[in-house]
Amino acid sequence: MTSLNSAGAPLLEVKNLVKRFPIRGGLLGREVGAVQAVSDVSFTIARGETLGLVGESGCGKSTLGRCILRLIEPTSGQVLFKGQDVTKLDQGRLRRLRRQMQIIFQDPFASLNPRMTVDEILSEPIEIHGLASNRQERLEKIHRLLDLCGLRRESLNRYPHEFSGGQRQRVCIARALAVEPEFIVCDEPVSALDVSIQAQIINLMQDLQKELGLTYLFIAHDLKVVEHISNRVAVMYLGRMVELAQAEELYANPKHPYTQALLSAIPIPDPTYRKNRIMLRGDVPSPLNPPQGCHFHPRCSKAQDQCRADYPEPQSAGTHQYRCFLPNS
Ligand SMILES: Nc1ncnc2c1ncn2[C@@H]1O[C@H](COP(=O)(O)OP(=O)(O)OP(=O)(O)O)[C@@H](O)[C@H]1O
Ligand SMILES: [Mg+2]
Repeated sequence: MTSLNSAGAPLLEVKNLVKRFPIRGGLLGREVGAVQAVSDVSFTIARGETLGLVGESGCGKSTLGRCILRLIEPTSGQVLFKGQDVTKLDQGRLRRLRRQMQIIFQDPFASLNPRMTVDEILSEPIEIHGLASNRQERLEKIHRLLDLCGLRRESLNRYPHEFSGGQRQRVCIARALAVEPEFIVCDEPVSALDVSIQAQIINLMQDLQKELGLTYLFIAHDLKVVEHISNRVAVMYLGRMVELAQAEELYANPKHPYTQALLSAIPIPDPTYRKNRIMLRGDVPSPLNPPQGCHFHPRCSKAQDQCRADYPEPQSAGTHQYRCFLPNS
């Protein structure tokens, strides 16, 4: 999908990004196939903006997020952060840039070292990047991080297992903030938490964004989670970005049948209101062997011959972009 420029120069610009995982087999380890986890994805994120990224399991959300930070190497395409191509940086320059780009994962327990106290967890990035000149300065920084993330100062000498899931995610957020980043990939940061705790963490992330001027790529499984935090929302299906629009526009006027199906699956609290639920037929096809034409056509009730033959080029209506021959209008 062609990139969509928001107001001002984008902080991040992803151009035609592709990530292919070769599958090797046999005695010689020859390539016997490949998973196209991310296919020709392009978009921008403006400074201070949140772009929500949604899609079913396996559609390539985490792969895309990790390619942006080069935690995995993209196969092709460009990732421009403040105009600098991340994919071309050597290890030294990449390490310096990592200070400005951080990631928060779904499972806070797995991403924290169980043998380190919160003090050690937060001190590590500050020391690695030389962000405090003495012990006192480091402690002041850590206290500020705890305050920002709603953690008590007594937490410092505790270990990850002594916290609840929500508090552990607060520790992960504090650790990401320790290096004073500008951009954070939030990879399903609330998916593993109770619904009541999810709202608290999302509110915290919104407050931090305002206070620190952060920019987010916020990944989630379903459209409900990203509705309030996102300025724009992108929907992925089998490695492709199939729709991208301003949040209100996407929820009010979804163009792609896949987005419509995802939206119809969101429960509505009012029992007197009935909406037509669009059931998705079948499972997500294997990315090892995606269907020809539009990858969504085997599950789409509107599919016609053209959809079975060709992949739709990006279409746009104003700032609303989608890949579908038969958009809902
Ligand atoms: N290291 C790898 N080697 C081979 N295939 C991989 C690898 N990592 C991911 N994949 C495949 O790439 C596709 C995209 O995976 P990815 O984890 O990005 O999806 P996702 O949208 O984040 O899913 P989830 O919602 O479950 O987190 C999947 O088919 C997955 O099996
Ligand atoms: Mg994922």
